[in-house]
Amino acid sequence: MSWLLESLNSSIGKKILMAVTGISLILFLVGHLSGNMALFANDGGKSFNAYAEFLHHLPGLMVIEIILASVFLLHILNALRLWVENKKARPVKYAVNASSKNSTIFSRTMVQTGSIILIFLIVHLKNFWYEYVILKSNDNLFEIVVETFKDPVYSGLYILAMILLGFHLNHGFQSAFQTFGWNHKKYTPFINFLGAIYSIAMAVGFASMPIYFLFFYGGN
Ligand code: HEM
Repeated sequence: MSWLLESLNSSIGKKILMAVTGISLILFLVGHLSGNMALFANDGGKSFNAYAEFLHHLPGLMVIEIILASVFLLHILNALRLWVENKKARPVKYAVNASSKNSTIFSRTMVQTGSIILIFLIVHLKNFWYEYVILKSNDNLFEIVVETFKDPVYSGLYILAMILLGFHLNHGFQSAFQTFGWNHKKYTPFINFLGAIYSIAMAVGFASMPIYFLFFYGGN
């Protein structure tokens, strides 16, 4: 066990932990968004509620939830640790800041976009998971979704958070590939392109839910 802790504390260990947790979260988002597409079935929430029921009766759900929560926690705590270490290593800012020349706005704002995603996550869990699974305030999850997205302030902030999630993913995707050494003159532009497509698909896909319920949902 001590070898594992030692490896995770080395600088390459921290980078690998960031990449492994980041890629796991990237895959989780694909599954999460695909399932949520049932919201658009236009059947009064039947398909979506059936999907929610199925998920909440999966054998071993508790284990899956604990693993997912741990991946999020590891990703966040490791990111904060790297950020603090970076600050300590370079307490005085460079007199001439050339960072914008060799980095992008996406890479320079990973801590900020990550922190906003974290706040979003807490509100998101309170609105859906806590109401449906813990409080059991309504056993119709579709109704909870419709009610929540009716609020234009909530929906507006949700859409903003999804744009910032897209920023985070745009850099995160290519950075994770780089950590594993998949860096090649020929393939890197393709990986960057794939990362851009993925991050736009996630941002647009998740933002399409509040947009649909605010402007297009007829209530049937
Ligand atoms: C859906 C949620 C999230 C996904 C899919 C995601 C994905 C990623 C990926 C793929 C990376 C690149 C890993 C690497 O460099 O190898 C990354 C880096 C990072 N993430 Fe996230 N992330 C998420 C949530 C968060 C949250 C909530 C925070 C909160 C602080 C955060 C903070 C960071 C930071 C600061 C980095 C850059 C670390 C560094 O290289 O210095 N992320 N993320």
